[in-house]
Amino acid sequence: MGGAWFHVAYLVAIVLFIFGIKRLGKVRTAKSGNRLAALAMLLVVIGAVGELDARSPGQGVDWSWIIAGAVVGGAIGAFAAKKVQMTEMPEMVALFNGSGGAASVFVVLAFLATRLPDLPEGASLARGMGGWDTTLALALSILVGGVTLTGSVVAYAKLSGKVTSDAVVYNLQHPINGALILVALGLTVLIGWVLGPDAAMMVSVILALLALGLGVLLVLPIGGADMPVVISLLNSYSGIAAAMTGFVLKSPVLIVSGALVGASGLILTNIMCKAMNRSLLSVLLGGFGQTAGAASSEDAREYSDVKSVGPEELAMMLEGVSSVIFVPGYGLAVAQAQHVTRELGDFLEAQGAQVKYAIHPVAGRMPGHMNVLLAEASVPYEQLVEMDEINPEFKTTDVVIVLGANDVVNPAALDDPQSPLAGMPILNVHEARQVIVVKRSLSPGYAGVRNPLFEADNAHMLFSDAKVALQETLNELKETVGA
Ligand code: TAP
Repeated sequence: MGGAWFHVAYLVAIVLFIFGIKRLGKVRTAKSGNRLAALAMLLVVIGAVGELDARSPGQGVDWSWIIAGAVVGGAIGAFAAKKVQMTEMPEMVALFNGSGGAASVFVVLAFLATRLPDLPEGASLARGMGGWDTTLALALSILVGGVTLTGSVVAYAKLSGKVTSDAVVYNLQHPINGALILVALGLTVLIGWVLGPDAAMMVSVILALLALGLGVLLVLPIGGADMPVVISLLNSYSGIAAAMTGFVLKSPVLIVSGALVGASGLILTNIMCKAMNRSLLSVLLGGFGQTAGAASSEDAREYSDVKSVGPEELAMMLEGVSSVIFVPGYGLAVAQAQHVTRELGDFLEAQGAQVKYAIHPVAGRMPGHMNVLLAEASVPYEQLVEMDEINPEFKTTDVVIVLGANDVVNPAALDDPQSPLAGMPILNVHEARQVIVVKRSLSPGYAGVRNPLFEADNAHMLFSDAKVALQETLNELKETVGA
């Protein structure tokens, strides 16, 4: 095999990346998918160092730096992953995306700094180093990588409350961003075709600075609640930047892994936008949340016929039921009620009821939010049922308990064409025999709109924190039915 062993390592890594991503698609196989991808990453690092060693014979690779870097980076990653709370996951993903963008910018700038001095005096980059395609890949890597870095940092700051999560809109926002993109194009032409090596290096750094500024300007106008979509998009950007870096370095493994991240990030962004009934353009143009917020305070006062129950009455309703569906939403995560939900579910199952959990694709605030929470509480996977599959079952269900969900069960999405939610697929809980909505007040959810479900004939509100309500209901049931 000689010096080509690293090609085999790359090939195996690519296959592992593909299987890893595939396995990440299901909760049951996600952990092993993650491990496969991590193993692939290790193979790539070992292969890359081996390749470097093979390509510069005699000079040798200083392993001490490589090992030190891997240990420091690995320790930071392991510490961050252990420490992060499940609800802070989007923030962490944002920071990881930003690091990916930063890596692309630095690698390409370092590549330029080492290669440009070899060009003949006065030769342009495109002529001296690899044609228009390499130049374009190089500029895109710097531009997309820089936007990803600062865009991700702003997304992180918004989500963690370090800067306002409001949509920061300013005059001439779109013309300014458009002008900056045109300037970036102009700089790319200068770097590739007009300037000599020294000036090209300097202008590349200017392009990187422009990209960093553009990242801030693009993400600031987007409201905090849209950040999960933005983070998914930035994830895709980090992949695109990496793939472009792969073209510059002529590294197939970087091209393939970057393309995988770029494509899967885009697919996820698309799924999220569809499930939220928003267009990607409307998310990117920003400003959402402000108008919705303004409408909400008015809407909340519009309820006139709301019936409410307490935990004792809920316990009575649950005595002897044959089917129960729990519908978790964002409030379940806020209340951290996943464990007591499972306890109540287990109790009802032990009493002979059929228990299921209905999962809406955008319930909560991040993709897979509800799956992750319920998996943390060891709810059996087979009880988690996706929207399309569970919707026909509501009609024949005795009691549906909505736990801190609001928008994802709002029937206005189906029958009010004026509603901001119109067209969004929902969980049809209003079709069940009885619906109990557990939340603290009548205030609206993320979209800021009124929910006619709260006034439906078959619906009762249980005004309480979800964890407290379920614990009290369970205690009540245990007392009457017996533990
Ligand atoms: P929401 O519509 O946001 O409603 C959550 C409800 O939880 C609120 O009405 C709130 O009412 C209640 N709540 C808060 N804390 C609670 C607690 N401690 N105990 C009980 N209830 C509590 O949630 P949803 O139905 O899950 O819908 C998700 C929304 O987020 C959708 O509009 C979706 O488009 C959007 N979104 C989702 C994602 C992803 S990827 N999941 C990303 C971005 C945006 P009270 O204040 O009255 O308690």
